[in-house]
Amino acid sequence: MNKSYFGLIGLGVMGSNLALNIADKRFSLSVYNRSANGESEIVKKFSDTNPSYENIQGYNDLKKFILSLERPRKILIMIKAGKPIDDQITELIPLLNKGDILIDGGNSYFTDTANRSDLLQKNKLYYIGAGISGGEKGARNGPSIMPGGTLESYNSVSKVLESIAATDDQGFPCCTFIGPDGSGHFVKMVHNGIEYAEMQLLAELFSLMNRSMSFDEIANVFETWNTGELSSYLLEISIQILRKKEQGKYVLDIILDKAGNKGTGSWSSKIAFDLGIPGTMMSSAVFSRYISSFKSDRNTLSKKIPFNTIDSNKIDLDNLKDAYQFARIINHTQGFDLIKKASESYSWNLNLYDISRIWSNGCIIKSALMNRLRSLFKNETNLLKSEFGFDLLKTNEASISKVLKYGIDQRIALHCLSSALNYWIDMTNKNVPANFIQAQRDFFGSHGYQRNDKPADKIYHTKWEK
Ligand code: 6PG
Repeated sequence: MNKSYFGLIGLGVMGSNLALNIADKRFSLSVYNRSANGESEIVKKFSDTNPSYENIQGYNDLKKFILSLERPRKILIMIKAGKPIDDQITELIPLLNKGDILIDGGNSYFTDTANRSDLLQKNKLYYIGAGISGGEKGARNGPSIMPGGTLESYNSVSKVLESIAATDDQGFPCCTFIGPDGSGHFVKMVHNGIEYAEMQLLAELFSLMNRSMSFDEIANVFETWNTGELSSYLLEISIQILRKKEQGKYVLDIILDKAGNKGTGSWSSKIAFDLGIPGTMMSSAVFSRYISSFKSDRNTLSKKIPFNTIDSNKIDLDNLKDAYQFARIINHTQGFDLIKKASESYSWNLNLYDISRIWSNGCIIKSALMNRLRSLFKNETNLLKSEFGFDLLKTNEASISKVLKYGIDQRIALHCLSSALNYWIDMTNKNVPANFIQAQRDFFGSHGYQRNDKPADKIYHTKWEK
């Protein structure tokens, strides 16, 4: 049997779709899935459902799988993040040879990726942490891929990764070398932080419109927006979600209002806290999901607050559109600021232009705005301070304020829309009440404060009590 050029471990939804995508690009491929935990039939099922793929060899035996690969081996691991990855690496190390390359294509935490990379390096092996976005369809037809590690190891796998990725509007692959260590997984994590807030914004718009409009009417509004500068993958799927019926019933009407999560949104929010970047929109989106999970408390407490949920007072759709645009600019500002700060703090030398380019297609947050950002990041590094961003925010401020007022009157929680406006108000205000915070800190903890009439390097303290 001829040796395969590439290997893939884990035939779950993402893994099997990526395998077919790789095979379609004419690479010979070996695939492996463990037999334990009731998974003994997975490889057979995969081969049986894809009989025409003569360039794929399936294995249940890890050693045979490894021996079926050309050296240096290039293996993409598509299994659950966390301990399963560590267990798989432990099993693999004794079977590999110097120079072999493992690629973790899951949503691993970036510091775990950096640690695994060190471990592999000690064993003279390479490790690439590659964020992959686009869900099942993206995996099959072209995802956005964010690989981090050494450039040398990236160059050995770039042929495969770049050929299976989506392409941007110039025909270039939505996959590029991101940077060292866990930077690829970091960038994917921030992608998800932005994704969380984009999803929450659409949910808030839905909630606002649904007070006076049917699902179909809302879908029609989204459809008109989706033809222009607001178009995005998430808006596109929202239209389909709103229109989907099963047995005569809207599916949306039967879905329990408890949002799940797999952790990447809270990871990006936490790291934003650590790096001192106000990721207010992503964290608001995470908290909103958490609040939704307290379903039984919400049920009980809601009974004490009678509220009419149908209102003839329709939301102004022009204001809403402006508010949506406004909030998306703030969300993307915060996300890219987080990447920029991480790049400086960890000396990663990340390129915002490259990142926005590979996010312009294939991934969940692909949008017309991302394409716009791609041109912007050719010359600038801050969306809020750019002429495009600042002018849009200034123009749309009145609209988002009106939308928030409507939301308050209607008792609709607008976690992300309100954090967008609050961020803008403070960022464009010469005076914020942080002097009051400083006074309190100094009062109870003698933490000291800087004065606005003295040089910034001097710290002052007041004896507050007589
Ligand atoms: C992507 C997505 C994906 C993510 C899921 C679930 O880019 O393809 O971000 O990687 O894991 O959307 O995320 P949550 O369960 O946390 O919502």
